[in-house]
Amino acid sequence: MKRVFSGVQPTGDIHIGNYLGAMRQFVALQDDYECFFCAVDLHALTVPQDPKVLKEKTIELAALYLAIGLDPKKVTIFIQSHVPAHAELAWLLQCITYFGELSRMTQFKDKSKGKESVSVGLFTYPDLMAADILLYNTHYVPVGEDQKQHLELTRDIAQRFNNRFGETFVVPEPMILKLGARIMSLTDPTKKMSKSDSDPNNRINLLDEPSVIKKKIMRAVTDSETEIRLDWENKPGVSNLLTIYSLFTGMEIEEVVNKFKGQGYGTLKKELAEVVIDKLTVIQKNYKDLSRDYVLKVLKEGAERAQAVAEKTLKEVKEKMGLILKD
Ligand code: TYM
Repeated sequence: MKRVFSGVQPTGDIHIGNYLGAMRQFVALQDDYECFFCAVDLHALTVPQDPKVLKEKTIELAALYLAIGLDPKKVTIFIQSHVPAHAELAWLLQCITYFGELSRMTQFKDKSKGKESVSVGLFTYPDLMAADILLYNTHYVPVGEDQKQHLELTRDIAQRFNNRFGETFVVPEPMILKLGARIMSLTDPTKKMSKSDSDPNNRINLLDEPSVIKKKIMRAVTDSETEIRLDWENKPGVSNLLTIYSLFTGMEIEEVVNKFKGQGYGTLKKELAEVVIDKLTVIQKNYKDLSRDYVLKVLKEGAERAQAVAEKTLKEVKEKMGLILKD
């Protein structure tokens, strides 16, 4: 069975951009692939975190994985730091990655812009991500558009390793959806919806109350025209709302555009709010029904399963790079 790996950072609030761009795919893939889904807490440390908050957010993310419909009998859900091989392989990969390659990463440029002190971890972040993926000999990586460049680098690193040390890693392919790969901010639809945006109205969180969801959608920035049509260049706000509607209902985007043609923005927003609230209420109910002990048990078992696979790959890598194995 082909393997799938993906990760989400347990920082901030998980929003519908994360869900529609990546996590929804995880659920769809679980029946046909051997899947590993990770809460990447080591990646979270690349920017300052409050330790107590990080712990809570990590468990919250794991619970959300379950609440959206991932079945721990079918997939492996675990915390990155519970499998030490991730950090270890990241170091080995850093030694075959070039400074210039990491310097070209747009996410690093965006996240470090204007900051006085930037951690080295933020710079080498893509190597840890490559380690996550390559440890599991992953074939497919479901992610949003913003991870494309990191995936390209992962492929380059895998190929370079294989060329230098002999066939070892599967060269992974990104799985990026045509629709939903880049859900835009509700307050500035020229920017992507983001956990780190200081304005909480830019995003709808999976755990937002219905009244909050409604308020955020009704206030979403559109444009000064009145016509509803899909036009990302001139009407990014409306196009974003139509896209979210299509993804939450499963209706084709053209069907959605026809449904709302000739109607006002108010109607589109009102109906969209209902659709989003309906879907998120189900996820929220599942989330509330989960006990902390159960989530921790899933994570413990997940780490054991992940560890077994990761250790095997790491051993092979060390052997090939000329490190002496202990046993
Ligand atoms: P993170 O935590 O920023 O985001 C988690 C996933 O959500 C996607 N995403 C979006 N998709 C559509 N529209 C948006 N506005 C939007 N915002 C975020 C992201 O593309 C991602 O798929 N580096 C990764 C985490 C990671 C990882 C990995 C992913 C670490 N190791 C290995 C895949 C494989 C990140 O920061 O995602």
